[in-house]
Order: sequence, then C-alpha cells, then structure tokens
Amino acid sequence: MNKNLKDFNMSNKLKRRKFVKTGIVAGIGTTVVPGILTGKGIDRKVRIGFIGVGSQGTNLLKACLSMQDVVVPAICDIDKEALLRAQSLVEKAGRKAPQGYSKDEEDFRNMVLREDMDGVVISTPWMWHTPMAVATMEAGKYCAPEVWGASSVEECWELIEASEETGMPCMMLENHCYDRNNMAVLRMVREGLFGELSHCQCGYCHDLRGVKFQPGVEFGHGAKGEARWRTQHSLKRNGDLYPTHGLGPIANCVNDNRGNRMVSLTSTATKSRGLHDYIVNTAGEDHPNAKLDWALGDVVTTVIKCQNGETIIINHDTNLPRPYSNMYTVQGTKGLWMEHRGLTNSVYLEGKSPEHKWESLEQYLPEYEHPLWIKFLGEGVRGGHGGAGYLKIRAFIECVKRKIPTPIDVYDTAAWIVVTPLSEQSITLGSEPVDFPDFTKGKWMNNKPIFGLTAEY
Ligand SMILES: NC(=O)c1ccc[n+]([C@@H]2O[C@H](COP(=O)([O-])OP(=O)(O)OC[C@H]3O[C@@H](n4cnc5c(N)ncnc54)[C@H](O)[C@@H]3O)[C@@H](O)[C@H]2O)c1
Repeated sequence: MNKNLKDFNMSNKLKRRKFVKTGIVAGIGTTVVPGILTGKGIDRKVRIGFIGVGSQGTNLLKACLSMQDVVVPAICDIDKEALLRAQSLVEKAGRKAPQGYSKDEEDFRNMVLREDMDGVVISTPWMWHTPMAVATMEAGKYCAPEVWGASSVEECWELIEASEETGMPCMMLENHCYDRNNMAVLRMVREGLFGELSHCQCGYCHDLRGVKFQPGVEFGHGAKGEARWRTQHSLKRNGDLYPTHGLGPIANCVNDNRGNRMVSLTSTATKSRGLHDYIVNTAGEDHPNAKLDWALGDVVTTVIKCQNGETIIINHDTNLPRPYSNMYTVQGTKGLWMEHRGLTNSVYLEGKSPEHKWESLEQYLPEYEHPLWIKFLGEGVRGGHGGAGYLKIRAFIECVKRKIPTPIDVYDTAAWIVVTPLSEQSITLGSEPVDFPDFTKGKWMNNKPIFGLTAEY
C-alpha cells in the first residue's frame, strides 16, 4: 500500500474513533448508538433476521450466508413459497433451518421480539419499511431497511423518533453509496480534487416497464414480483418515487447533515405517456389497463438547494425505453466528474487534465481508489450490483458486530427518503419550492462525516 493510502486510512480511523467516542460519551452526535461501544465482540457471530425474502431479500440472504460469522435464526414472509425457498437456502448452506413467520401481515412483530437476534434486514414493499423498522428498533435491534421513498414526511419523523428513543441505529441499505466509482470520487472530493463543490446531478433512470407489469401488462393482486405492489405507486403518485440510488452517494459528497444540509426543493413532472403506450403496444387498446390514467410523469426532475449553496438535480425516469444510468455529476471550482453508464465515466480537472479535454476516471483509480475497495479487490469482489450489494450488507453486519453506529444512519435515511413526499407536494403546488425538515434539529451544523471513513465498513 502506498504512503498516501496508509495515511488516509490512519487519519480516518482516528477521526472515526474520535467521532464515535464523542457521540457516546457526550451524547451529542446525531448518530444514535446502542449500549456499550467497546469494539469487543469482533470475533462473535451476528444473528440476523429477515423480513421479506422476495427478489432483493433473497439476494441479501445469500450474501449473508456467504459470511461465516452470520447466523440466521428467523425469517418472516407472508408468501409461504418465498419463505420455504429462503429456509431451504439456509439449510443448503449447511446452517440450522431458521424459524418461519408467515401467519399474517403483522407476524413480523412476533419475530422481532426474539431474544436470539441482533439485527433485522427489511426487504418488503415500501409501505411496510417504516412500521417494520420502528418495531425492530423498539425491540432493541439494529435495523437495515432496503431502499425506498417515503409516503409522507410524518413517516420519516417516526423513524427518527424511534431511533432516538431506543438508541438503535437504522441503516438504509443504499448500495450505490458503495459503488467503486462513487467511493473513489468521494475520496477525490474529500481530498479537494474538484475544489469547492457547486453542483451535482444524479438520478434513477431505469426502464421499469417490464418490472411494473408481470406477466404481460398485469399488476396488483395475481401479478408477479414487484408488479404486485410497486406499480400501484405509479398509478396514484406523481413525484420522485425512488430518489436514493442517485441521491445517497451525492449526499455523501456534499456532506449532507454534516456541516451542510438540503434546505428546499422544486419538482417538475412531464406528462405521463410511457406506461399507457407500453400497455397498448403489448396488449392492445382494448385491454382494461389501457383505460387507466397514470399519475406518474414519465420524467420527474427535482432541483435541491443546499445550505452551503450547492444545487443537486435528481431525475426519476422509469416509464420510457432507455438503458440504465444514474447520471452522476459532481462539479466544483476545480473540475468535475460525469458518469452516464455505458456512455461516459470521465473527469476534467483544471491544471491536471489536458486543457478542456476529458480524461477517464479509471486513470485516477490507482491513486484514488477508496481503501474499502482496495481491500475488497484484494479479497475478491463478490455479490450483486458489481460488489456494492455485498459491501452494503457487510457494512451493516460489521457495525452490528462491533456495536457501533452505522455509516448510513437514521438521519441520512430520513433526509433521502423524504424527497419523495416533498417532490409530490412541489408538483401539486405547480413546482413551488418546498422546505426539507431538519431531522437533526440543528446538529447538522457540528456533525462530522461518517460514511466511507474506514476500509472495514
Ligand atoms: N438496492 C437495490 O438495488 C434494490 C433492488 C431491488 C429491490 N430493492 C428494494 O427491496 C425492497 C423489496 O423489493 P423486492 O424486489 O424484493 O420485492 P418483492 O416483491 O420481490 O419481495 C417483497 C417480499 O416482501 C414480502 N412481504 C410483503 N408484505 C409483507 C409483510 N407484511 N410481512 C412479511 N413479508 C411481506 C412479499 O411476500 C415478498 O416476498 C423494496 O424496497 C425495493 O425497492 C432494492
């Protein structure tokens, strides 16, 4: 390892230790911490329960089963087939079959009360994330809900209150924060390569028509996969329904909740044509679903204003034909990075790059690879989403094991998911600005960054 990386590792380890200590001893950090924080127990096993083992829950379960230090005592899913499949996956991995909970939609409440569990991973339809996360924290366990957009501002406050009252962390499992490029760029931002940040862009640009309708043009009861529940949101809601894949990594770059904060946003939606067209082209004009009036605009554009003067554009674009992209841009006084997946992954750094000529980010990776990724590449990249899917759940497990705060905390979770109801409000008001609540209640002014400070989590 070169000297720069060693120094980076060391100084960040020290910073994190100091941060954690300050948070506990003085009780003034915004990060909520559980019980004792000694770093002891690193050799012990971590006991994780799962609620929801459909498509994504199964991915996370498989990742956990590849870890020798994770035990899965219980799994809850109302779909008995999904539950049985998950239980047998655990057995096939040579572990004891977990107890199943599938009595009814509220059976998760019984599971989270078990005493042989340290944390719970939640991969259910969006409307269930908050009640399940709150019940988990109230039962004294770490919780890790998958990504989503909130249904209301009140829902976000419920998460904050539960975490503050119980002292239990809530880490939304945002894999894009752990993407290799995003972590290298975060390091470049922190080392000042882009100068002072001024503007960022990001999005969730993913043709979901084949996900929202399965099979054919079916959705709702009797459909398959996410079409059972996700599509209903597009029918009834007009806003950025899935902000965090774009916003998570960008929020880390602008130090959101840590010396900076997102203050207000405006959102504007296009007309809605994509889903109707898909139905007509797939099943014909006479199909009953062709009569539906879809609320969700095909492309929703949100502009966020930050306290320190930066702007962030987020696009939500899920109804039209297109290849996937998160459309990241991070721009400052000394240069910028732009990534449009499959098109470009480029930087321009004034004084370093040839004048007004793009360079590939890859050229900078040998010097600016994030320590977490240096370690991961050395050990062998594994898991979904290019490895980021593994890293995010591993980070959660490490924190549960060490009984330390998670690197994505309840304040991040709330600030990122609240974009959904705020963008709906702004669109309803004709794109008027809407204020973000300050979930930290002023502590953002003194908080220090917590994400990406170590090579472990
Ligand atoms: N990070 C990523 O890249 C990524 C990718 C896909 C999905 N997701 C997220 O993961 C979550 C789950 O999505 P999915 O694709 O796995 O959906 P899915 O429909 O495949 O699975 C959801 C599961 O939850 C179960 N469920 C529903 N209500 C329940 C209840 N009350 N109690 C117990 N189980 C219940 C369902 O039976 C189903 O098995 C969503 O938040 C989604 O946005 C994230």
